[in-house]
Amino acid sequence: MGDPSLATTPFQLSDANQFFELSKDPDIRNEYPNMRFENIEEAKAYLEAQIDLTENSGLSFFKAIRIVYDGLEPVYTEENNILVGFISLHKIGALDQIFAGGFQQTLGYAIKSAYRGKGLMTIALNMTLDAMRRDGYNVMAAAVKKQNISSIRVLEKCGFIMVRDYQISLLYVKRITMDKDEFDKLFIL
Ligand SMILES: CC(C)(COP(=O)(O)OP(=O)(O)OC[C@H]1O[C@@H](n2cnc3c(N)ncnc32)[C@H](O)[C@@H]1OP(=O)(O)O)[C@@H](O)C(=O)NCCC(=O)NCCS
Repeated sequence: MGDPSLATTPFQLSDANQFFELSKDPDIRNEYPNMRFENIEEAKAYLEAQIDLTENSGLSFFKAIRIVYDGLEPVYTEENNILVGFISLHKIGALDQIFAGGFQQTLGYAIKSAYRGKGLMTIALNMTLDAMRRDGYNVMAAAVKKQNISSIRVLEKCGFIMVRDYQISLLYVKRITMDKDEFDKLFIL
């Protein structure tokens, strides 16, 4: 195997086994109840829907975070990558929008427990933000539970600022391409 590198890439259906294993992580099940799959078929169906969403929604996405061997392969197999997490941008429901300062989409992310505390999520989020800048996204939001110290730390390391305190959760935002004065007027002043 060659030198490993970190990549954020689309999911493929061949990720189903690794994705099902990832979804068994108790912290991920706790944060993302829609990923509490009973069996591989449920995980596969979810993955299929997310692949379709990523390809067709234009804005939302669900991407894999992988440790890749032998460079950035266009096709990932269980032999040339380890699926260590995901990063997503999803439409949220009306109730969640209240705790997201009116944002209709928020970021989600996770790293498998054995790979945490090594800076991987910070690298993956920064890579995603760079891609968003190239794609012209305006401003990004993430809602995080107050006790989720590591997630808060990741957001702060990536330059997000806390703009709303909702007792149990905090709203963080980051300017991507939005005009700085407009951003400051909306979130800072
Ligand atoms: C949140 C999560 C993605 C972080 O992934 P990660 O790869 O471990 O993140 P990083 O290593 O890039 O950064 C973690 C930071 O939190 C810090 N940290 C972790 N636990 C901490 C604690 N109890 N107190 C203080 N800092 C803590 C680490 O030291 C590190 O900061 P540093 O680089 O300044 O030392 C991961 O814990 C996870 O998947 N959790 C479950 C799912 C989840 O909560 N998703 C987010 C929903 S909003």
